[in-house]
Amino acid sequence: MSVVYDNIGELVTNDPSHGDGSPLGIIDDAAIVVDGDRIAWIGPSDHAPAVDDRVDCRKASVIPGFVDSHAHLIFAGDRSAEFAARMSGTPYDGGGIATTVSATRAAGDDKLADNLARLAAELLRSGVTTFETKSGYGLTVADERRALEIAGHVTDETTFLGAHVVPVEYRDRRDDYVNLVAGDMLAACAPRARWIDVFCDRGAFDIDESRTILEAGADAGLGLRLHASQLGPGQGIKLAVELGAASVDHCTFADDSDLEALASSSTVATLLPGAEFCTRARWPDGRRFVAAGVTIALATDCNPGTSYTTSMPFCIALAVRDMHLTPAEALRAATAGGAAALRRDDIGALAKGMRADFVRLDAPSYIHLAYRPGVPIIDTVVVGGTRMKESSNQ
Ligand code: NIG
Ligand code: FE
Repeated sequence: MSVVYDNIGELVTNDPSHGDGSPLGIIDDAAIVVDGDRIAWIGPSDHAPAVDDRVDCRKASVIPGFVDSHAHLIFAGDRSAEFAARMSGTPYDGGGIATTVSATRAAGDDKLADNLARLAAELLRSGVTTFETKSGYGLTVADERRALEIAGHVTDETTFLGAHVVPVEYRDRRDDYVNLVAGDMLAACAPRARWIDVFCDRGAFDIDESRTILEAGADAGLGLRLHASQLGPGQGIKLAVELGAASVDHCTFADDSDLEALASSSTVATLLPGAEFCTRARWPDGRRFVAAGVTIALATDCNPGTSYTTSMPFCIALAVRDMHLTPAEALRAATAGGAAALRRDDIGALAKGMRADFVRLDAPSYIHLAYRPGVPIIDTVVVGGTRMKESSNQ
């Protein structure tokens, strides 16, 4: 069964061979032909081949589906009071993670799966066609393993984050916890995860602990990711580069030497503006990353503590307004950047042979993602060739 989506006013392909050579590779008056779960053809609307079915995009903008490369979706409980306190001046220090750990341990599998399904549905409605999710609110062998088992039912991009914080019961013997994470917990979780991540920051894990855990993860066959320099400066970004991590995330306090290290590496810097918003932290300057030649991704960081949003358009608007990215850079970071952060070459752009993951906006230009903050302009969402979501005005 093949379908043509034609009469697209503005098609963002992320393939610079189209259009004027700019990174978004925009084709005006375009069409996409989908065959099964793949793109079979892309080009000018009036050259589109005749196929089985037709969807008229009515001059709207069509963009690649968002790739959310950083989220924490397996949890229970509510931390709205912590957010309210923060807005009244209480700083974020990661201490609230323990609240979510208690609620998550106490929750049944069904509760965790239902919460995950609700958040996955929200991501889809916000135009996300691929998402990563981490464990990290269980922090026992059994609780981390079950988090990854539950996650594996909804995404292939699963990340073992046993090293989120040292749980209270290990407070006075943190070396034992590091050994557990790098030992039995990793052995139980590695078969259920594609990636391993560590929260390398003050109040979480230091550079030596992070190295021990990441090296053990690599030995177990997992790809590497790292939370670093969110709460203060540190050596985490350079560690991620040294170990060949796919992504280092937050980077709020990245300095020039960090940017230099990133620029000459294959490690993507993932910016998480929802976290700066929700913790009222300083904004990393996205322009510095771009100017230094760093590949950047934008992701939601959806989690109950520091960024309880599933909205990629909201993150794009923040990145443009407060991180000083152009709308084009922010869109590319939320699509091709996310794909690079997950080391995927089948998603993040629209070209023949790639997965048919794209979004029709209820707008004439992708710029509206930042220009109309908070307005639901995500219209049709196509995932692997299947139309998953259509707005009521379709
Ligand atoms: O990415 N920084 C560490 N982990 C999460 C926050 C976790 C929480 O507060 O529950 C983050 O911001
Ligand atoms: Fe995170």
